[in-house]
Amino acid sequence: MALLQLVQVSKSFGGLKAVNNVSMEVPPNLVMGLIGPNGSGKSTLVNIITGFYRPDSGDIFFKGEKITGRRPYYIANKGIVRTFQLTRVFKNLTVLQNLMTASSDKERDKARIAQIIDLLNFNGRENTTADSLSYGEQKLLEIGRALVKDPEMLILDEPASGISPMIVDRLTHLIKDLKKIGRTILVIEHNLNVISRICDRVVVLNHGQKIAEGSFSEISRDQNVITAYLGE
Ligand SMILES: Nc1ncnc2c1ncn2[C@@H]1O[C@H](COP(=O)(O)OP(=O)(O)OP(=O)(O)O)[C@@H](O)[C@H]1O
Ligand SMILES: [Mg+2]
Repeated sequence: MALLQLVQVSKSFGGLKAVNNVSMEVPPNLVMGLIGPNGSGKSTLVNIITGFYRPDSGDIFFKGEKITGRRPYYIANKGIVRTFQLTRVFKNLTVLQNLMTASSDKERDKARIAQIIDLLNFNGRENTTADSLSYGEQKLLEIGRALVKDPEMLILDEPASGISPMIVDRLTHLIKDLKKIGRTILVIEHNLNVISRICDRVVVLNHGQKIAEGSFSEISRDQNVITAYLGE
């Protein structure tokens, strides 16, 4: 059974169909890519899945439960946690404090936070303030904040944008490590090299519609996908 299932989801802003009748399934323990040109509806779809927007029509199921129209905190508690396209760490707080403030029960989450520091390679820099980390490391820290909630599914909105190649490598290793420990990841990313390295499957949006789905090598040979990207 799919972990996440979208059935004919649509959302308009005024006359613009930002997401148009999109259906997709994300099986458990898989890295799924969501790509498409600027304005194709990727972030809107994530906002719908995570309860920030209510779809005009269609349904969303997580672990078989209908979560359509549920509030963001409800969906996060069910196990879907996301990061934002623009980084939201507390710049004046330390690495450790940033992780601690994402926790609702610091005693319970202590061991997990130590494990996250390991995963992110922040050992020895727990007390560094976030604003003295590079932009890329701040983005890794934001993923760390999402992981404190121990989500079954993690949604990353453009995690590689604006970060150095070295941090991109750390990011790809992190995503592979998260898959190894059983997590499911939905990742929006413009960097197709990153998508090709980490994704088991890819869904392609264009003008709000799903135009292709398959492995990276399949979708990269798809004529509709090539036209959508070159026609940009
Ligand atoms: N809150 C909103 N109000 C009005 N229009 C919106 C809103 N959010 C998104 N849109 C419009 O919906 C369309 C899809 O936007 P969305 O942000 O989902 O695209 P995207 O695929 O994430 O693009 P990008 O790659 O640039 O991040 C765009 O035309 C955008 O201008
Ligand atoms: Mg976006």
